[in-house]
Amino acid sequence: MSSSRHIPLVTYVRRTLVARLAFMAAAIALGMAALAYMAEERMMAREVVVEAQIGIEELTDRTRELMVMDNLQPRAAFRKTLAELSAARPKRRNGKVVFAGFSMPGIEGAEEYLDRSFVLHQAVWDYVHSRSTPHAEAGEAWSRTTVIADLLCVHAVLPLGDSARNETGRAEIVFVPSPEILAAMNRKSLLTAGIVVLITLATTGLLYPVVLRLTDRLVAFSRNMQAANFETLSLLGCVVAKRDSDTDDHNYRVTLYALHTGAAMGLDADQMRALTKGAFLHDVGKIAIRDDILLKPGRLTREEFEIMKTHVRHGLDVIDRSTWLRDARDVVGGHHEKFDGEGYPGRLEGADIPLTARVFAVADVFDALTSRRPYKAPLSRAEALGILIRGRGRHFDPEVVDVFASMAKDLHERYAHKTGSDLKAELIDMSWRYFQADAETLV
Ligand SMILES: [Fe+2]
Repeated sequence: MSSSRHIPLVTYVRRTLVARLAFMAAAIALGMAALAYMAEERMMAREVVVEAQIGIEELTDRTRELMVMDNLQPRAAFRKTLAELSAARPKRRNGKVVFAGFSMPGIEGAEEYLDRSFVLHQAVWDYVHSRSTPHAEAGEAWSRTTVIADLLCVHAVLPLGDSARNETGRAEIVFVPSPEILAAMNRKSLLTAGIVVLITLATTGLLYPVVLRLTDRLVAFSRNMQAANFETLSLLGCVVAKRDSDTDDHNYRVTLYALHTGAAMGLDADQMRALTKGAFLHDVGKIAIRDDILLKPGRLTREEFEIMKTHVRHGLDVIDRSTWLRDARDVVGGHHEKFDGEGYPGRLEGADIPLTARVFAVADVFDALTSRRPYKAPLSRAEALGILIRGRGRHFDPEVVDVFASMAKDLHERYAHKTGSDLKAELIDMSWRYFQADAETLV
């Protein structure tokens, strides 16, 4: 049974809608923000690589310059460049080269420069010497971003060649972007992520009234449908009552007794809806029984009783014409079965009789016994309960009798003397919550 059974449907739908929209907006905003942040991080890494490439190009350009000007071999030229770098410690505005090395394929040893003023210089040194020099295709530069001691760095390799463009060595550097540029880039990433979150939330906020309006219309439509279905129940029950020279009161009262008993036994919303429909329509098949049998004041003959018993089959024929009424089948088809298997039409026994039919049977007999009919006076509550209790395990499910008996006084005092519109209002009030549970599947 729905936990929201006491909340008006429109309130329930709105609350559910708000909760789901908020959850979806938050999930989408977080997801989009994470994607935007990652995209910015990638762009940031690319920008750092560009900065590093500028740094290494300055280094290699100077080396080539020295090779030409001083007619030096690449290794000697690079050594001189490193000496200049060491002396000048040039810094780029956006970062600096903290390690530079020169090596020649097949020759042991390398010229290396380490900026010892850099606070993490030892970590950089360890990083460079903890792995072999990355392979770079001859004549092609290679670079990648890496993290050394939680700091974003660029590790790059650039081939150096002689005047004939033969690779005669390779330069390797580690470039560290400045804290300022890292902070600026981080701010940019966060700002982009924040803008994405705001756009997502604003879009959801703009869509909310539109979705709400559509949902309200859907709820109103659903309520109208439910009301029309409920009227169909009421109308069919009334038709049978008129045919049987009875009033609607029995239908309303027996349905209320059955619903209270079902609720006390923990039936779920589906079962309660089936019980409501079945209680209203249990005798709808009587419409097909001849007047001389249906309205006969005295005892029916054996043949007449056999015809009267067919009202169950006729009832099933009627409700099978409606998809919405089909769940009343258990009560309509099983309301004359008896717990000991002596009932009709299926001679079902015990738990083989649907629970809703067992609940209804107790409510139906109690109301029939305690109601005034043209041919009999009402029995007292105690007399009627005595009959039910004597029928425990024979006519009735013992558990249902026990539950009903525990509530019989309250139910009888509350409903026995009410009639017509009062009973109808009570029934609509009580049963709507179960039909509302059906409508709650809208959201
Ligand atoms: Fe019946």
